[in-house]
Amino acid sequence: LLVNASEALGRPIPETLFGIFFEEINHAGAGGLWAELVSNRGFEAGGPDIPSNIDPWSIIGDEDSSLTLSTDRSSCFEHNKVALRMEVLCDTEGTNICPAGGVGIYNPGFWGMNIEKGKKYKVVLYVRSSGAINVSVSLTGPNGLETLATHDIIASFRDVATWTKMEVVLEANASNPNSRLQLTTTRKGVIWFDQVSAMPMETYKGHGFRSDLVDMLADLKPKFIRFPGGCFVEGEWLRNAFRWKATIGPWEERPGHFGDVWMYWTDDGLGYFEFLQLSEDLGALPVWVFNSGISHNDQVNTSNVMPFVQEALDSIEFARGYPNSTWGSIRAAMGHPEPFDLRHVALGNEDCGKKNYRGNYVKFYNAIKKAYPDIKIITNCNRFSQKLDHPADFYDYHVYKTAKDMFSLAHLFDLASRNGAKAFVSEYAVTRKHAGKGNLLAALAEAAFLIGIEQNSDIVRMACYARLFVNDNDRRWSPDAIVFNSSQLYGTPSYWAQHFFRESSSATVLHSTLLTNTSTSLIASAIMWNNTDDGKSYLRIKIVNFWNNTVNLKISVDGLEPNSIQLSGSNKTELTSGNLMDENSFKEPKKVNPNQNPLENAGKDMDVVLLPYSLT
Ligand code: AHR
Repeated sequence: LLVNASEALGRPIPETLFGIFFEEINHAGAGGLWAELVSNRGFEAGGPDIPSNIDPWSIIGDEDSSLTLSTDRSSCFEHNKVALRMEVLCDTEGTNICPAGGVGIYNPGFWGMNIEKGKKYKVVLYVRSSGAINVSVSLTGPNGLETLATHDIIASFRDVATWTKMEVVLEANASNPNSRLQLTTTRKGVIWFDQVSAMPMETYKGHGFRSDLVDMLADLKPKFIRFPGGCFVEGEWLRNAFRWKATIGPWEERPGHFGDVWMYWTDDGLGYFEFLQLSEDLGALPVWVFNSGISHNDQVNTSNVMPFVQEALDSIEFARGYPNSTWGSIRAAMGHPEPFDLRHVALGNEDCGKKNYRGNYVKFYNAIKKAYPDIKIITNCNRFSQKLDHPADFYDYHVYKTAKDMFSLAHLFDLASRNGAKAFVSEYAVTRKHAGKGNLLAALAEAAFLIGIEQNSDIVRMACYARLFVNDNDRRWSPDAIVFNSSQLYGTPSYWAQHFFRESSSATVLHSTLLTNTSTSLIASAIMWNNTDDGKSYLRIKIVNFWNNTVNLKISVDGLEPNSIQLSGSNKTELTSGNLMDENSFKEPKKVNPNQNPLENAGKDMDVVLLPYSLT
């Protein structure tokens, strides 16, 4: 491998080449990134279009003799009227004595709440009643027997119609990753509950995100976040699509919605504002994908699409507008008077073939460019397969392939036209044959594809892997980059392959040539970047060996200024494993993991051993 380290011969890589794609799929957000522990906090799941239900809230006690549960539409929140009515039939005295521990309801969260000893949890609930109440708010083990934290709410209500907000901070005296929240009483009477939330007091930067999951994202140094999804943005039906205005403002007033593509309810605690906040917290640019009036099964005619266009314009004003603008003022009221750095928007997802897409797109494009000329607009129409008949800054390109095909696609963009809209590879992954739940084979093929992207980054300006997260209890789609449950997490080999590219955005891709007769199974690239922390320049050479033999590769690096080179501290990092199909798991989270060792013979000329099926 010949590498020329002269930056003059290299090419700058875009600042935003590698980012992440967050989709609300696999309970990535609700029951995942968003740290809310209660599932269905408003007893609303289902929403107006699907009969609502209180799942997974369940009863504690005997429904015939100790209490009855029902819902009514008496909530004080206009957009989510359903409230839970609990009539307690037993008491501390008389003929119908309540069982020890009381009767009531519990919420197991999203397959168990992770409660940790010494940590604090804020529980908020809205209550009304016809008289005095004594309700224990508790965090308990999965069967309710072990109490991890508890607090009694004792109150008296004069007016049955008036809702009162109650707040309790619980400190856990023990840990259990499979806990639940209980609201119990031993007192006869009727109590209504609504909007019950339990949040850990410690979240990422205090912004409500689960820290361990965000740490994994931060470690990838993503330069952008595409959100809130692909199909999730479209919906099976427009009435169930993500509508940003319903996801902002106080959490209690958000109606929530049923995502009918991935088939689960979200309370929308993780809303448009929170996505913008997450982008800022990670130092990544938001890439906001919005519905262009098209779902999987219905679409708005172009002549009627203007309300959707206005909704998009309003979303941009919400992100960027002055704090005294109509929508900017709502952002400011939510605690962020400064604008968010929104520079990219995508119109729809995989909708190019739909009848109204192009017509709708042009209406959006013209209106957005008129109001915000600097915003970069991404079309769903892929310039590879057809010449664009509409203006765009970027075109979406989605690649889901077998490993073999993905490896070959490393050269996909070599021949792409260099003019016009740039490519945004907004979803790529090895899926299908032999991909398992994410194995070494998939990761190597993806790494090869990314090397190709690095080398073609004059035309491919942005790229992100799909899907980012999976809650192991709800695998709608495999493989994924990060697997988690209530308390554990690990990166799949695909996650670790992306690690090798963390410094690529803003670096210089150097001129390099592979002179080998095994070049059909090897692919390499070299980058150089300046590290702002120590002011030094670094060189990184990446090679994928995609066959079953060890390769002894001679690497020659020209163009380095001899006096400026510091070889000590050079490393060789390898991603490989005993078996090509090896996967990580909760039991063996680091089975396929980058392994770093000092590179003893670092220098202008190096002999480097590439292990069979490895990324080095
Ligand atoms: O990532 C799952 C789905 O795959 C995305 O929602 C969609 O864009 C693609 O087809």
